[in-house]
Amino acid sequence: MQLLVYDDLKPEMEASRAATHLGAFGGFLSPSEVAIWRRLGSFSDYVGVFAVEAGQVLGHAYALRLPYTYPDGRVERVSGVAGVGSRPDHRGRGLARRMLEEIHRRERKEGIDHIALWTNRSWGAHGIYERLGYQDVYGIPLAVRAVPRTMRPASNTVRVRHGRVTDLPRLEEVHVRATRGRIGFTPRLPRSLVAEHKARALDPPKDLLVATDGGRPVGYARVEEDPSRVRCPELLTEGPGAALALIEAMERRGRGRMCTWCLSAVADQGAELRRRGYLFVPTGWYGMMACRLRGEANASQVRAELGVDQPRWVVHRGDQF
Ligand SMILES: CC(C)(COP(=O)(O)OP(=O)(O)OC[C@H]1O[C@@H](n2cnc3c(N)ncnc32)[C@H](O)[C@@H]1OP(=O)(O)O)[C@@H](O)C(=O)NCCC(=O)NCCS
Repeated sequence: MQLLVYDDLKPEMEASRAATHLGAFGGFLSPSEVAIWRRLGSFSDYVGVFAVEAGQVLGHAYALRLPYTYPDGRVERVSGVAGVGSRPDHRGRGLARRMLEEIHRRERKEGIDHIALWTNRSWGAHGIYERLGYQDVYGIPLAVRAVPRTMRPASNTVRVRHGRVTDLPRLEEVHVRATRGRIGFTPRLPRSLVAEHKARALDPPKDLLVATDGGRPVGYARVEEDPSRVRCPELLTEGPGAALALIEAMERRGRGRMCTWCLSAVADQGAELRRRGYLFVPTGWYGMMACRLRGEANASQVRAELGVDQPRWVVHRGDQF
């Protein structure tokens, strides 16, 4: 078995790369999506590490580098691991472990301090990550309320409308302003929302509610919905009026369904959500693990180094990988 990087893969290996990814996740990272994220600058130079044998990709692990504001205000890149998968008929051979060790070696050499990933604590992969030194540093909090079918009309004057593709650059500015002075996944790479749209991971009319003041966007909420619930994993505004307008608009959209908030929206909008009778769950099973790339550290040390326990810590849907 060889460990190759993305640019070493031959065109004839592409079907096996797709098959391994499809077998692990049901989806596949296409070459055009890889090109979009590479152009944005969120991938490492080598994109990822691939376990290859007899000309076939049997495993993959992608490596990202994202800007991160540390508690002392320093902005550095942190590494992110995404899409760790191996073929079920080759499981238990150490493919995942070896790919991750290779990513760690490369990221350490790059001088990066921390590496993070998102996973579910109840999955088998969690144990693999623990053995490699990752610690649970953040579990996604939730706020949940069953929204009645009939609601009072909106109580404020900020207008909310569906998102437009042309809003995206302006919404990135909203993100910059709304997260200034905070710790964590900020500032984002310029054109992150535009790249998400290009990669078809964000469809503004369906996935965004935009608050406007005098026609100018001053806040937005991402919306994920299905017949039973609406969920907001990202809400950023330039003021409390826009936040309230977006909360009301989310609830209107979720009438007769469960309305749920997660990630930083829960802490940031906690007072208003509490006032509206939401049930709070401090942590779910899904969350972020992180590891110091040099020297050992326990979970509370890693949490303190990354600042995740501080109210200023910020993480939204667009920061999950
Ligand atoms: C999770 C996954 C990547 C593991 O791949 P793998 O190549 O079989 O893993 P490895 O052989 O490197 O295993 C590393 C260690 O974990 C153990 N392990 C492997 N799969 C395990 C599982 N499902 N539960 C518990 N332990 C497991 C191995 O025994 C090995 O232990 P060791 O280091 O003490 O020898 C693979 O099962 C997979 O693709 N799953 C579906 C996608 C997925 O869930 N990815 C993770 C998303 S966060």
